Amino acid sequence: MNSFHRQRTPAAGVLLAAAWLCAAGGCGDGSTASPEAAANGAAGNGAAPVQPNERDTGRTGMLAVQSEPFGEVDGQPITQYLLSNKNGLAVSIIDYGAIVTSVVTSDKDGRRENITLGFADLEGYLGKDPYFGAICGRYANRIARGKFSIGDEQYELAINNEPNHLHGGTKGFNEVVWQARPLSNEMTEGEAVGVELKYHSPDGEEGYPGALDVTVTYTLDNDDRLRIDYEAVTDKPTVLNLTNHCYWNLAGVPPDGRREGLPTMLDHELMLNADHYLPVDETLIPTGELKPVAGTPFDFTEPHKIGERIGVLKAGVENGGYDHCYALNGQPGELKLAARVVHPESGRTMQVQTTEPGVQFYTGNFLDGSEANGGFEQHQGFCLECQHYPNSPNEKRFPETLLKPGEVYRQTTIHQFGVQLPGAGGAVKVSN
Ligand code: GAL
Repeated sequence: MNSFHRQRTPAAGVLLAAAWLCAAGGCGDGSTASPEAAANGAAGNGAAPVQPNERDTGRTGMLAVQSEPFGEVDGQPITQYLLSNKNGLAVSIIDYGAIVTSVVTSDKDGRRENITLGFADLEGYLGKDPYFGAICGRYANRIARGKFSIGDEQYELAINNEPNHLHGGTKGFNEVVWQARPLSNEMTEGEAVGVELKYHSPDGEEGYPGALDVTVTYTLDNDDRLRIDYEAVTDKPTVLNLTNHCYWNLAGVPPDGRREGLPTMLDHELMLNADHYLPVDETLIPTGELKPVAGTPFDFTEPHKIGERIGVLKAGVENGGYDHCYALNGQPGELKLAARVVHPESGRTMQVQTTEPGVQFYTGNFLDGSEANGGFEQHQGFCLECQHYPNSPNEKRFPETLLKPGEVYRQTTIHQFGVQLPGAGGAVKVSN
C-alpha cells in the first residue's frame, strides 16, 4: 500500500514514438499523442501514459494530458495527471485531495524547474501535511470554535486547530479521493487541456449539513494559464468556502526531496490588489474589521519584497509573519487581479486573478523542516489562497458563504506564469 508504482503499459514504446511525431508537428491539435495512446491510458481513463523522458522534463511540445499510476490509498488506485503545453509548462495533479503536485516553468535562461512545494511520492501526502497543493473544503480557512448556525439550527465541527476548525476538519477535501476525468483539447473551451475532479460529500460529513456535489476543473492553455474552476450544489442549506492551497517558491524546488540550499521566498516581490486586510485575534480569527493597509507593513498595493517588513510582524502579535486575508479591490463574482509576484533572480513571474472576494496571504510560518512538512523550513514557500473571508458564517459583515438548494456555487481562479527579462523595464514577457 501507498507505494509509488511505476508500471508501464506494453504499448509504451509505440506511444513514445507517437508522442515524438506529435512534438514534431504531425498530430493536428496534439491534444493527446494518438488515438492508441488515449485508448491505452495508464489508468484506462482516456489520457495517454506519461513517457519516461516527459516525466523528467514535462516537455511534450504540445497541449497534452497524460496520466500515470501514483500509488494506492486503502486499495484505491491513485492517478497523477500531467498537463503540458507547447511552451513546456507542465502541471501535475493527483486525484487524491485534487492536489497540484508540481508546476514546472522556465526561468529567464530557459531552465525548467518545479515551483511548488510538495512530496516526492504519495506517502507524504497521506500524513498530516500542511495542505501542499490541495483543494481545501468544505470550509477552507477557520471557523471560530467550530460553531455556526443556519437559521435556528446550530452546527458543531471538529476543532482540529485549537481552538478553531480549519480547512474542513479532521478529514477535509484534501484527504479524499476524487473522481477524475482527463480533458483533451476537444473537451475544453478554447485551446486547453485539463482534468476534471468530482467529489460527493455526504450529508453530515465532518458535521456539515447537506449532501454536497463539488467539481473542480484544472485547465492549462498555451498562454501559460492554469485555470481552476469550481462548482458545487447542495441538497440542504450549508456553508462553503473552497480554495487551492499551493505553496510557491519561484526560485525552484527540487522534486526529489533535496532541501539543502533551498532559498526562502522572502526576496520575491509581491503586489496585492487590496486596499484593506482583515486583522486577526491571537487564534487567527478575523476581528470583523476591514483595516486600510496604507502606512502599514500590510501594504502591497505597490510591489514590495515579501521579507522587507516581515520582521515588524514577527516582533508583534503576528509572530510568524503574514497569515491574513486581504479584501480584494473590485466586485466579488467578477474576475479581477488578485496578485502579481516576481522573483528577480530567476525572472519567474506569477499573476493571480480570481472571482473571490479575498486572498489569504500566508508566508509558510508553520513550516518547520520536519518530515510531515516535506523538510521545508519557515518561509520556504508562500500561499495565495483565493477564497471568501475566514469565519464568514459567524460574521454578518462579511460576504455570504451560505449555499442553498437550487443555487450553484461558482469560483474561477487563474494563475498565469511568465518570465520578466532583465532590462524589460518591468514588462512581463509571458513565455515558458
Ligand atoms: C493556511 C492558514 C495557516 C495554516 C496553514 C496550514 O491556510 O492560513 O494559518 O493553518 O494553512 O498549515
